[in-house]
Amino acid sequence: MSGTTSQLSVDGKTVDMAIKTGSIGPSVIDIAKLYAQTGMFTYDPGFTSTASCESEITYIDGDAGVLLHRGYPIEQLAEHGDFLETCYLLLYGELPTASQKADFDYRVTRHTMVHEQMARFFQGFRRDAHPMAVLVGSIGAMSAFYHDSTDISDPQQRMIASMRLIAKMPTLAAMAYKYTIGQPFVYPLNSLDYTSNFLRMCFAVPAEEYKVNPVLSRALDRIFILHADHEQNASTSTVRLAGSSGANPFACIAAGTACLWGPAHGGANEAALKMLMEIGSVENIPKYIAKAKDKNDPFRLMGFGHRVYKNYDPRAKIMQKTTHEVLNELGIKDDPLLDVAIELERIALSDEYFIEKKLYPNIDFYSGITLKAMGFPTTMFTALFALARTVGWIAQWKEMIEDPSQRIGRPRQLYTGAPQREYTPIGRR
Ligand code: CMC
Repeated sequence: MSGTTSQLSVDGKTVDMAIKTGSIGPSVIDIAKLYAQTGMFTYDPGFTSTASCESEITYIDGDAGVLLHRGYPIEQLAEHGDFLETCYLLLYGELPTASQKADFDYRVTRHTMVHEQMARFFQGFRRDAHPMAVLVGSIGAMSAFYHDSTDISDPQQRMIASMRLIAKMPTLAAMAYKYTIGQPFVYPLNSLDYTSNFLRMCFAVPAEEYKVNPVLSRALDRIFILHADHEQNASTSTVRLAGSSGANPFACIAAGTACLWGPAHGGANEAALKMLMEIGSVENIPKYIAKAKDKNDPFRLMGFGHRVYKNYDPRAKIMQKTTHEVLNELGIKDDPLLDVAIELERIALSDEYFIEKKLYPNIDFYSGITLKAMGFPTTMFTALFALARTVGWIAQWKEMIEDPSQRIGRPRQLYTGAPQREYTPIGRR
């Protein structure tokens, strides 16, 4: 490799490929013309060495444990700002002034109600449906309710769809929860801030007054900030790929939500809490550590490890502090799950297997304990993740649509199936 180009020699041919440099982070080798010049594809299952796009939104240095949104460290955003400020930053690229922030909050708040017919759409689901199943369906259904914001070539419609998605996700998530527990839907209340409104839609009932606890609201708001965006992860890449065909934004976010549901991605917070409950007490930890290390056992420590972070997930540190704040506020002194979590973390961090493989706790390790203490059932954990990640998906989708060089995403393959053969009529097989 030399200067701003690299060379690849294959089958006696030498191909020059440009090296592109970003503002920070690894450079990339531009292989776009490789197939035309060599007749070969690159092969990278799981995309561990592949940059799928250029982006100005989020930067992660997994070795240093750094996460920046538009250049701002996640720790500073979580400490000083609120979730809607992070939304503004992700969407527009800069922190808002006071009047821009007030205007943004007003616009999001005015979009929180969903079409009344949506309530009847919910009735079609079984009462015991998983909230993520209901969310995937209802987000997709928004394309059928908001036709006036599905023309992706119109910047105004793109922005309206973005505001609608950010504003209506809490309403849909709360409705998914209320539906499964058989309680009436609670309409949004525009005098409340975004997160307090969500708490009220989840936990208020028409028969009683509901007072939002500001400590819990602030903690949940911080959890939303921590989940707002995370570069080109599986669900975001799903949104970009779906969007690359020109699909409408509601359909794209439904696709991202479906991808997030899996236990290796957003479903890990639910899986991590279930694992802590299964471990049950500190004495059982060595048995589970041994299972996690056993090559013949599929068990993994949920909430540990990350494709990109090979150091402490910076979000996990803030999450751990938030967990303690919430438990203190609720007067939960001896939570056996927290004892198991703290001891599990201590043992894993000093165990050779986890050290060598650089497996640190990720954000999902502590978020489950916090959400459970707040009163959310485990089935809602991934729905809360989807609510918060919607802004990241939307910002990345907009960035892609607004890039003039954007084309449909279409990976290729290494074919290992049967070569061409002649069809045999059924009677002769
Ligand atoms: N427990 C035990 N061993 C593990 C774990 C774990 N949680 N994670 C990875 N390993 C081992 C794995 O067995 C492999 O060992 P070997 O090299 O000997 O075969 C090695 O570490 C590398 O694992 P990998 O599966 O190749 O790594 P990956 O980058 O493909 O997977 C991961 C990343 C997050 C899917 C994985 O670490 C995992 O399954 N963790 C548990 C699920 C989890 O907590 N997911 C949430 C991720 S953070 C939130 C989000 O982004 O959605």
